[in-house]
Amino acid sequence: MTERSCLSIILAAGEGTRMKSALPKVLHRIAGLPMVAHVARAAEAAGSGDLALVIGYGAEQMREAVPAFAPGAEIFVQEERLGTAHAVLSARSAIARGYDDVLVMFGDTPLIDPAALADARARLAAGADLVVLGFRTENPTGYGRLIEKDGALVAIREEKDCTDEERRITFCNSGLMAIAGARALALLDAVGNDNAKGEYYLTDIVEIGGAKGLKIVATEASFENALGINNRAELAGAEAIWQKRRRREVMLSGVTMIAPETVFFSYDTEVDPDVLIEPNVYFGPGVSVEGGAIIHAFSHIEGAVIGPRAEVGPFARLRPGSDLGEKAKVGNFCEIKKATVEAGAKVNHLTYIGDARVGAGANIGAGTITCNYDGYSKFFTDIGAGAFIGSNSALVAPISIGERAYVASGSVITDNVPDDALAFGRARQKTLPERAKQLRERRASAAKK
Ligand code: UD1
Ligand code: CA
Repeated sequence: MTERSCLSIILAAGEGTRMKSALPKVLHRIAGLPMVAHVARAAEAAGSGDLALVIGYGAEQMREAVPAFAPGAEIFVQEERLGTAHAVLSARSAIARGYDDVLVMFGDTPLIDPAALADARARLAAGADLVVLGFRTENPTGYGRLIEKDGALVAIREEKDCTDEERRITFCNSGLMAIAGARALALLDAVGNDNAKGEYYLTDIVEIGGAKGLKIVATEASFENALGINNRAELAGAEAIWQKRRRREVMLSGVTMIAPETVFFSYDTEVDPDVLIEPNVYFGPGVSVEGGAIIHAFSHIEGAVIGPRAEVGPFARLRPGSDLGEKAKVGNFCEIKKATVEAGAKVNHLTYIGDARVGAGANIGAGTITCNYDGYSKFFTDIGAGAFIGSNSALVAPISIGERAYVASGSVITDNVPDDALAFGRARQKTLPERAKQLRERRASAAKK
């Protein structure tokens, strides 16, 4: 079989008033990725070819955001929002290029499953002209109802246009449709706006197609596939479903989590088998964790690579650009930013390492700070392999500490330290015998007077 060509059209022109946001609704994020990007990724995962995005409200913000997640997408602006069929027709020039399959999706249904998209396309390939993805719900209020006759889908009726009897139907329209490309424009052009809302309804193409004797199929998917986000409570609900799904996948792939419900992943978090994740860990975007690593409780990690058998936390913060080598350790109350901690190096307590390299096997004492910023620019700190930085040292960048060098505790280091050297950057201790006692006596007698 030759591969069928496909155009995926994502409708995202709506404002999303109920989000009460300056940001267009579909740019609100789930697992660190805009909702509309989840939809685009699902389309891509289903092999659904070219992508067209219909935007309207917040067009400037949308244009700015789209290249990050769908660089190849063709953008169409729907100037006036006259309904879902009208929105699809904004992409007329793309549809007119002629595709075997046209998929229509909504940008605010982020949990759509690629398998459901692929299934809809398979039905087109098997001869259907129009496939509607339906779902069942006990509470169908607000959804279009799928009207069936003798087991065949004959119409979709919007809530406001339903009879009382139709309103009791619990089989609903998710919004996802797959249309035979050759039929698409004729169907869409036949849609009128004679309905309760005075809009051009995409859903009308079912009745129009039926009258032309086309083959129309309704399929049933899980409710999640159709979950449309309208407010922030629903956004959080979708996030919870996404996280639950992902945790399960991660565990089944060989990762141990003691309290999975307290661990949060981003859309792109990669965790290898035999990683152990303790409770209350947050993964921001851009993290990969290699086999045998342990992430201790209460760690916040983003933009970081964690090497094999490395250990992080408890209470560690890894910021973007952190790169931990094999068996490296970053312990409690440490912050790492744009820095490499090479194999076996230890940064164990109360330390900030930013814009730096910590060489293999180096040991960074408690309270060490790389002073990387002078209020204007950032500077680099290079710490050689096997170096030992005494506790409470300040390394004033730009600076380099040689291999196997030793920095005395409490030092402020402003000059480079060569390999194997010992550096002190603090005043020598002075001890005056009996002086404390004398001081106390003098203060006591002064107070009596
Ligand atoms: C739509 C369906 C309904 C289905 C429900 C599922 C229609 C007529 N109705 O209803 O059957 O049960 O979704 O959630 O299709 N949009 C545009 N331009 C427009 C109008 C809408 O881009 O002119 C976009 C919106 O941004 C949104 C999507 O299309 O992403 C759906 O529009 P919305 O107004 O939310 O449709 P519903 O009334 O929810
Ligand atoms: Ca909606």
